[in-house]
Amino acid sequence: MTERAAIILAAGVSSRMNTQLPKVLHEVCGRPMLAYVLDACREVGVAKIYVIVGFGAEQVEQQFDDTKNITWVKQNEQLGTAHAVMCCKEYLKDFKGETLVLCGDGPLVRAETLSTLIGKHQMEQAAATLATAVLEDPTGYGRIVRDKYGNIQGIVEDADCSREQLAITEINPSYYLFNNRILFEAVEQVKPDNVKKEYYLTDAVSYIISTGHKVVAVTAVRPEEAMGVNSRTQLSVASKIMQKRIQQELMDHGVTIVDPDNTWIDARAKIGQDTVIEPFTYIHGDVKIGKACRIGPFAYLRPGTILENDVVLGVFTEVKNSLMADGVRVRHHSFIGDATVGRNVNVGAGSITANYDGHNVNRTEIGDNCYIGSGAVLVAPLVLKEGTHVNAGAVVTHENATQLPGKGK
Ligand code: UD1
Ligand code: CA
Repeated sequence: MTERAAIILAAGVSSRMNTQLPKVLHEVCGRPMLAYVLDACREVGVAKIYVIVGFGAEQVEQQFDDTKNITWVKQNEQLGTAHAVMCCKEYLKDFKGETLVLCGDGPLVRAETLSTLIGKHQMEQAAATLATAVLEDPTGYGRIVRDKYGNIQGIVEDADCSREQLAITEINPSYYLFNNRILFEAVEQVKPDNVKKEYYLTDAVSYIISTGHKVVAVTAVRPEEAMGVNSRTQLSVASKIMQKRIQQELMDHGVTIVDPDNTWIDARAKIGQDTVIEPFTYIHGDVKIGKACRIGPFAYLRPGTILENDVVLGVFTEVKNSLMADGVRVRHHSFIGDATVGRNVNVGAGSITANYDGHNVNRTEIGDNCYIGSGAVLVAPLVLKEGTHVNAGAVVTHENATQLPGKGK
């Protein structure tokens, strides 16, 4: 079996984003862009992934703790995408397999497309296989130049295009698979002969074609997948597309999303079957929601929220870092933070946990079957025994909690 490596280009400074943060750390639906590209590589069984980092390299490395098959490769000066690939030479010069090259600013790449790329590459016994997409507005992308028979002649960068070439709508999404040996032969030949004076990886593709090797393309990659993120506007568009995918997958797994356009769900969230997400709900972070829950409208679930089954969270309910057991009801205007809420607890309208005392964040434990009346303030740290009844408007503290009626220990 052919061994496969991947090179992910993520060293760029990203002037167009106007940012201090390395571009690939900008988040799409709660995860850094680079995470999606790594996932796609792993999903198609790439054994070794080389990530080229430069601008903010340490910051990028720190963000990823699951680095089991990643080698971070430093590109000290960002001289272009071909130069970035060259930085892997010491690792890959004797590698006999195939090498995927992807950009860290292309979070919408799908593993299925990479599989198609790999399949075509092998079937055609190609030296290089690239993906192409047809965009209504190809501005900014490298254009695929073909001869009159339809054979690919090369890729011309936007800044270097003639007027005729600018009209080409078939573009380079920057997903490539190369015979590794031929890739490194070619990148060595690239000269910074262009408007930007950069070493372009796209010129390596043209070089491979000019030396008579077979270069083929997987055409008709969906436009939404081809997108690279170079600006904040593109970041927002990519986020929207990713959001659609996340929701689609949840719906396929039996989650009802009443109004997808007015719902935002983090890529890390997990939601169980027959749960209904009402409009204007925002789920942020690694939230876990069980089966047959009803969330929203206007609910805000933050990192560390775990809901078991049949939990109802209603309008303007905010939950953070809390566990809610089966049957909990928090229907209106509540904040529950850093709490464990037992089975069948009912939290009345406007009741909150006061989890922060100005210095520390403290926990609240609410036993099974407690009833919290409306407008109560539960001042943490606090333990409410099973079956406790809290009157409307009460301010419950560690000191007065023991006097409340209840049946727990
Ligand atoms: C690149 C392609 C273009 C394609 C587009 C798709 C080249 C020359 N152009 O253009 O054909 O249509 O992507 O989105 O390859 N990077 C480095 N080191 C460098 C330069 C760049 O690691 O020295 C990284 C960047 O961080 C980025 C990626 O390579 O993640 C692509 O670079 P970028 O400058 O965004 O290229 P584009 O102009 O978008
Ligand atoms: Ca780009």
